[in-house]
Amino acid sequence: MAVSSSSLDPYALPNDEPELERLDFQHRVWRLSLDGALYLSPLPPSTNSVLDLGTGTGIWAIEFADENPSATVTGVDLSPVQPRWIPPNCQFQIDDIEEEWTYPLPIPDPTSGEVSGARGLDFVHGRMLSLGVKDWPCLFRQSFTHLRPGGYFEAQEFDLTAHCEPDSPKQGVAFRKWSENVIGAAKKAGINAQASRHFDQQLREAGFVDVTSKHFRWPVGPWPEGENSKKEKTLGVWAQRNIVAGLEAGALGMLSRYEGWSKEQVLELVREAREEMLDMEFHQYLNM
Ligand SMILES: C[S@@+](CC[C@H](N)C(=O)[O-])C[C@H]1O[C@@H](n2cnc3c(N)ncnc32)[C@H](O)[C@@H]1O
Repeated sequence: MAVSSSSLDPYALPNDEPELERLDFQHRVWRLSLDGALYLSPLPPSTNSVLDLGTGTGIWAIEFADENPSATVTGVDLSPVQPRWIPPNCQFQIDDIEEEWTYPLPIPDPTSGEVSGARGLDFVHGRMLSLGVKDWPCLFRQSFTHLRPGGYFEAQEFDLTAHCEPDSPKQGVAFRKWSENVIGAAKKAGINAQASRHFDQQLREAGFVDVTSKHFRWPVGPWPEGENSKKEKTLGVWAQRNIVAGLEAGALGMLSRYEGWSKEQVLELVREAREEMLDMEFHQYLNM
């Protein structure tokens, strides 16, 4: 398994081709969850300077730039895995978002070529960083400082706790074991894989106002039933594919680095969890 080529990288997940493909697919799962949207913040049309934290393959930043040609978007990541062919109003920078920010670098205006210098940000976005970020309050404070008055911050996150419906035909064991062990290993790495539970309060403490949160679940499989379950069923199929594909990536680095598990032990747990997750008698889900 490849690990990040960046010497900066304390991130325990891989950045190899299967993981990058999974991230791009996961982006589709997010867009389905948000009914096609890239974000939920009520951004004004004047939104110009946008920062995407932990951008990964850069797919969110690229699509934001494509859909908002007058905005300039900077995606930052520890790992240089972003494509080269990108919209002219998009750029990527390799950096640690938990260090002091030196970005966004000014982007020349695509038509005039003029560089307007460093500006305050209008929108800071970060998605699926809960197995990477150690100090969320610090990240929120730094975002607040770099945003213009009236700017927006949006986090799209997961909570790694495995849930199973109380009336599920079978109660999950292996996915829960996977989740508990990865949460425990992350804790040893200084990472709270359930951090999103505290975001509302931490954002207010950082100075943000009008804090709102939207909670939904990603079912593992098309098990949801009922009148309005069409979207949840589709979401279940897509989320199942995404989560099953991420079981090994999420566990291997974490459990071997921080819990001393052998690769064989991790793969056995992944196999058990995968088997359970593909069985529709288990009505399991993650909270987002
Ligand atoms: C699960 S991926 C999510 C990628 C992207 N946000 C998305 O939703 O498609 C997490 C990304 O965060 C990056 N990352 C983790 N910790 C970071 C840090 N301290 N600074 C910059 N990037 C970080 C990783 O390299 C990885 O690309």
